[in-house]
Amino acid sequence: MRILFTGGSGKAGKHVVPYLLDKGHRVVNVDRVPLDHPGVDNRIADIKDPGHMHDVMQSYAGFDELVHGTGVPSFDAVVHFAAVPRILVTGDNETYRTNVMGTYNVIDAALKAGIKKIIFASSETTYAICFWDGEKKPDYLPIDEEHPTVPMDSYAMSKVVNEATARSFQARSGADIYGLRINNVIEPHEYKQDFPGYIADPSTRLRNIFAYIDARDLGEMVECCLKTDGLGFEIFNVSNDDHSVAATTPELLEQFYQGVPVKKEMGPNETFYSNEKAKRLLGYAPQHHWRQYLDDPTMA
Ligand SMILES: NC(=O)c1ccc[n+]([C@@H]2O[C@H](COP(=O)([O-])OP(=O)(O)OC[C@H]3O[C@@H](n4cnc5c(N)ncnc54)[C@H](O)[C@@H]3O)[C@@H](O)[C@H]2O)c1
Repeated sequence: MRILFTGGSGKAGKHVVPYLLDKGHRVVNVDRVPLDHPGVDNRIADIKDPGHMHDVMQSYAGFDELVHGTGVPSFDAVVHFAAVPRILVTGDNETYRTNVMGTYNVIDAALKAGIKKIIFASSETTYAICFWDGEKKPDYLPIDEEHPTVPMDSYAMSKVVNEATARSFQARSGADIYGLRINNVIEPHEYKQDFPGYIADPSTRLRNIFAYIDARDLGEMVECCLKTDGLGFEIFNVSNDDHSVAATTPELLEQFYQGVPVKKEMGPNETFYSNEKAKRLLGYAPQHHWRQYLDDPTMA
């Protein structure tokens, strides 16, 4: 497929874009800074600028596309990751403005260019826990896509608004628009760097509901979304099957979630951040588990 990818130079995108290239897609990365990776076409543009977004959606990917003399080819899909990725990076209003107006501009321009598949990054923070002032317990476990999303911070608010925006655009266009409530993205080098600390003190992972997602598995999730048509508007949690700590489900429930209803019988290491819907509707199957990447066998 010919894919326009926003934010491909960032932490997640720099793994997801190569994953998609390896699958045989052509990828144009639209970002404020280029991604230095063989095979990717870069375009510098600002998602806050609607003119930029309309332009890139109807643009050649590279000089080779001039050869045929048949005009500008269409993109088959847009993957929208560009954002201010958390609170405390810039002003709260700037975070909100970039994420909300940026997402409006990207989806609006994509649909007006006739693109029928849009995948966008939402976030675990919509469930309010991550950036809550104080501790917020989930309403129930495991957290699925039906769990309430009433956060108090500007970043998560922007993602909740983006989901509403996307849903309305889908109603108008009939396109397939899939939102990914991505959990904490882990790059390959972060297993050895960070997981020993998580294992030693599981409380450091409480705000992520003890979950995570390998950046390459996020690539696979995007690929699953590209391959699956006809769902209309859908939201998916994206996580690994396992917790990001060695403590077991019963131990974590006992220590951190007393009084929280548990809706189903859970496996000993089963994530509290349910990825069941993505598995059921998209055939998603994460491949990269932290236990594969640590040297100490007692951690496996
Ligand atoms: N990293 C995580 O753990 C995580 C978790 C949940 C959701 N997400 C979401 O996934 C997406 C990617 O996150 P990330 O961690 O790679 O973030 P990142 O900040 O590393 O990457 C974001 C990219 O977007 C680009 N960008 C920002 N503002 C832009 C603008 N106005 N115009 C064009 N490009 C712009 C940046 O240059 C950067 O390359 C974001 O939407 C984020 O909210 C990330």
